[in-house]
Amino acid sequence: MHSDLLQQGYAVTSDQAIGLPEKFRDNFVQTYFVDGVIRHDKGDWPVDRKRARDVIYYEWHDGELRLEEYETISLTDRAGIKGERIHARVMLLHDPQAVELIKAFLTLIPPDRRRSKGTFGVNLFRTYTNVVTAPHRDDEEFIFIYVLNRVGGGAETHLFDVNAVTTDFEHQLQPGELIVFDDERYLHDASPLKPDADGQAMRDALVCTVDYEATYLKPKSGSAAEPGAAEPPELVAAATS
Ligand SMILES: [Fe+2]
Repeated sequence: MHSDLLQQGYAVTSDQAIGLPEKFRDNFVQTYFVDGVIRHDKGDWPVDRKRARDVIYYEWHDGELRLEEYETISLTDRAGIKGERIHARVMLLHDPQAVELIKAFLTLIPPDRRRSKGTFGVNLFRTYTNVVTAPHRDDEEFIFIYVLNRVGGGAETHLFDVNAVTTDFEHQLQPGELIVFDDERYLHDASPLKPDADGQAMRDALVCTVDYEATYLKPKSGSAAEPGAAEPPELVAAATS
């Protein structure tokens, strides 16, 4: 995983391969992908997406991670929308399985690319139609996309190599699979969901970010894309024209 990530800028694995319990996905979806935790926020895009978010502060000490809830989850001037946005917060650190997930994900970052301390964003997204609509960056250091559940087809993840060093990558992540990639090396998007024979389509995913210091710890003014976000309609028009 470390050499894939260093050499090609992305790596694909599964929850069980990184040591998460077999029941992890079911437990996580049943606990957090429910009304009262995830919600649709006015102005969010895609228009039918439900979400929740947590931000974890981490420190590495002698190869061990220490985690705590970060003071805020707010996003400012992101996804082309000015101002501060507060989404539903889910406090994950009281949950031993969520702690296990966060530690497993951070451990996938090669040691010489790790920061001694930083923030880690965890975004829960339930989508029904569009997942995202235009290739974009999240403007963070590393991005994880972990699919927990999917009904229907489509939702193929694409990475577009911005520097043409390696080839582009396309893969339909199956429930249990995750990809981690270097956000600076690839634009990413995902195709729309395709309803199954019963007309049903839904995808539950975690999009996590190893953040730059500028995101929370040493903020500076300026706008950036939002983790896991589709661009708002006016930006899609610009991006695709
Ligand atoms: Fe994204």
